Amino acid sequence: MTNETMKNKTLIMGIESSCDETAVSVVSSDKEILSNIILTQLEEHKPYGGVVPEIAARSHIDHLNGLVRQALSEAEVGFEDLSAIAVTSGPGLIGGVMVGLMTAKAISFARKLPLISVNHLEGHALSIRLTDDVAFPYLLLLVSGGHCQLLVVKGVGNYERLGTTIEDAAGEAFDKTAKILGLDYPGGPAVEEAALKGDAKRFAFPRPLKGRSGSNFSFSGLKTAVLRAKDSLVAEKNGILRRQDICDLAASFQAALTDAIIDRVKNSMDYYLEHYGTKDNMFVVAGGVAANNSIKEKLTVLCMQKGFELKAPPMNLCTDNGAMIAWVGVEKFAQEDFAELGIGAVARWPLDPDAAPAIGGGRKA
Ligand code: KG4
Ligand code: ZN
Repeated sequence: MTNETMKNKTLIMGIESSCDETAVSVVSSDKEILSNIILTQLEEHKPYGGVVPEIAARSHIDHLNGLVRQALSEAEVGFEDLSAIAVTSGPGLIGGVMVGLMTAKAISFARKLPLISVNHLEGHALSIRLTDDVAFPYLLLLVSGGHCQLLVVKGVGNYERLGTTIEDAAGEAFDKTAKILGLDYPGGPAVEEAALKGDAKRFAFPRPLKGRSGSNFSFSGLKTAVLRAKDSLVAEKNGILRRQDICDLAASFQAALTDAIIDRVKNSMDYYLEHYGTKDNMFVVAGGVAANNSIKEKLTVLCMQKGFELKAPPMNLCTDNGAMIAWVGVEKFAQEDFAELGIGAVARWPLDPDAAPAIGGGRKA
């Protein structure tokens, strides 16, 4: 890149380490992703069927410095070309967040670069503006392994939360169900694949909160229902489940979860249309669960019915990545919203601090 080109744009490095991906990216203010390196720790956590915080933090330490170098070299820039360092400083697994934050602080101090503190959820929420021309406001469904929320994205740092899960996130429900059914980790893709060969009508699982007002989510009862159905099948068949039984359980679970999500989204759309509706209503879906075709198909139909345009970032930007953090950096840089070197890592950081707490909402609220 020539000095002339660089002078006219902001270049931000984004660092992400709040869960089980170590990720570093360099993004420009004209929406160019110059590098986007993502190292997943999937294999390290697989034996435990879920993310182990201690293993995650240690792995971030082992790899982050190398990824920072790699992100600069792929982008063909040096620290001196950057305008600022953006980093996830919460919410997430605190040990991992601290690794990313301390690395970013060190770079900021040593290279005299402004530090930008980014809420991981805001990374997901704004990533669609990196890939598409989506203006504020829009309705967002954020569905991942750690989060399940419906939000009105009104602007940078300006959100109205319409709903959140009162216990498990949707991805977590997929992962736990996969474990119950003896399927692979992560559970989402494994359950989806098994469901393709299953009969979704064989088991009448509950659709938690369906028909109730509001847009909160609940999935733990559904997961328990799958466990009970599986246990009684096992008892019935003297301990031997056929592959078809597993596929039917998976398909029935996925149908129930999808139905429950659609019902909650429908309520949020009605609310959105009443309070924010225009002639161009945007519905954005982000997070790992957005990869699920059954959910995506039903959301597409719902959007058509309610007059929303459906948008989703490409899959590699839906799951955790550094580009979405760098992009929030670009948006905050424009507002000169910089952080002090003394800031701490935060485990819980709601996008809408004024939202009434969901009963049992805990860390996911
Ligand atoms: O956004 P993500 O990569 O990580 C965070 O949780 O932040 O999401 C991972 C979650 C996992 O729970 C995984 O099982 C789920 O997304 N997932 C899916 C699918 N692919 C990934 N869930 C349902 N269907 C899928 N195809
Ligand atoms: Zn995430």
